[in-house]
Amino acid sequence: MDVFDRVEELIAEIGAATAPTPEDVEAFRIKYLGSKNVLKPLMGAMRSLPNDRKRDFGQLVNRAKTAAQEKYDALRSAAATTEDSVAGQGLDLTAPAEPLPLGSRHPVALTMRRIVSIFERIGFAVAEGPEVEDDWHNFTAMNTPEDHPARDMQDTFYVAEGLPAGPNNSAMLLRTHTSSVQARTMETQKPPIRIIAPGRVYRNETISARSHAQFHQVEGLYIAEKVSFADMKATLLHFAREMYGADTRIRLRPSYFPFTEPSAEMDIWWGLETEHDHRITKGTGWLEILGCGMVDPAVLENCGIDPEKYTGYAFGMGIERQAMLLYNITDIRLMFENDVRFLRQFASVL
Ligand code: DAH
Repeated sequence: MDVFDRVEELIAEIGAATAPTPEDVEAFRIKYLGSKNVLKPLMGAMRSLPNDRKRDFGQLVNRAKTAAQEKYDALRSAAATTEDSVAGQGLDLTAPAEPLPLGSRHPVALTMRRIVSIFERIGFAVAEGPEVEDDWHNFTAMNTPEDHPARDMQDTFYVAEGLPAGPNNSAMLLRTHTSSVQARTMETQKPPIRIIAPGRVYRNETISARSHAQFHQVEGLYIAEKVSFADMKATLLHFAREMYGADTRIRLRPSYFPFTEPSAEMDIWWGLETEHDHRITKGTGWLEILGCGMVDPAVLENCGIDPEKYTGYAFGMGIERQAMLLYNITDIRLMFENDVRFLRQFASVL
C-alpha cells in the first residue's frame, strides 16, 4: 500500500469514527491530533516521494488533519450534550418522576365538606334540590307571604314569569336559599327526616367585598315525633364545637323567619383579642353563624306532613362567610374569580 492509500484509509477511518463517552473522545484526540498522532510518521514519508508528487501528498495530509479536527469538535460537543443530560447532572433514571401539578379543592368546597361531614357523622343524610326553582318551593311552601320583600325583583332573580304561585304553576327563579330543599324533601319523604342540603343560592345583590349575587348555604332539617328546641340547641352546639373548637361557646338570639316559629340566630363567641376581632364582630365578640328555629306548622302542612303528630327544627347557614373566617379571607369576590394564585394556597388543605 502506498502512502497515498494509507492517508485515504485514515481519512475514511476518521469519518467513520464514533466516541460515545468522553474517554473515547480523548482517545480519538490522542490518536489523530496528539503529539504522536498517526499522521506524523506519514509526513516523514514525504521526503522519499518524487518532487512532482510532494504537493498532492501534502494537500492530502492536510485534508486528513482538517477532517480529524472537525470530527474531534463534533464528537466532543455530542459527548458534552449527552453528559449534560445524563451523567453531568447526576440524573438518576430510577428516581420517581417530577410531580405533575395537581388541582386543589376550592375553599368553599373545603368548608362545605367540613360542615356536611360534621352532620353526616350524627346521622344526617345529604339532600339536593334544583338551583332553578319554582316560587312554590322557594317561597310559598316555606310560608313566605305574597308581599314579602324577599320575593321582590330587587332581591330575587326571576328566570321566567309564571302563573300565580301554586304547587304546579309558579314563577321560575334562581333559589334564594337552600330552604327550598326542605320543601322538596318533605314532599317526598316521610318522617323521621334528617337531612343536610348544601348548595348554591342566588340573590340580586350588589357585588362587594362582603356580599355576592351567588353564594353557598347548608340547610339542615330534622322532623320526627317530639323534636324539641333543646334538641336543636344541642345539635347546633355540637356543630359549633366540631367546627370551631371544643371550647366554642354559642348563644341563640330570638329572630324571625317565615318558615320557623320560634326562630333564632346563632352566634359563636369569637373573642375580642385583636383589632381584627373587634372589626369582624362589630365590637361584640360574637359572630352570627346561622339562622334556625322550629319548623312552622304551616310549612309542615304545606308539604303534606301532619303538624299534630310531628315537630322539627331547621337551620341554614352561609358557607362563604365561614370559609372567610376559617382561612382569613377578606374579600368574598376572590371565591368566584378562580385566580390560581388564590386557589393554589389551598392545595395542602384536606
Ligand atoms: N333561609 C334562611 C336564609 O337564607 C336561613 C335559615 C334560617 C334557614 C332559619 C333555616 C332556618 O332553615 O330555620 O337566610
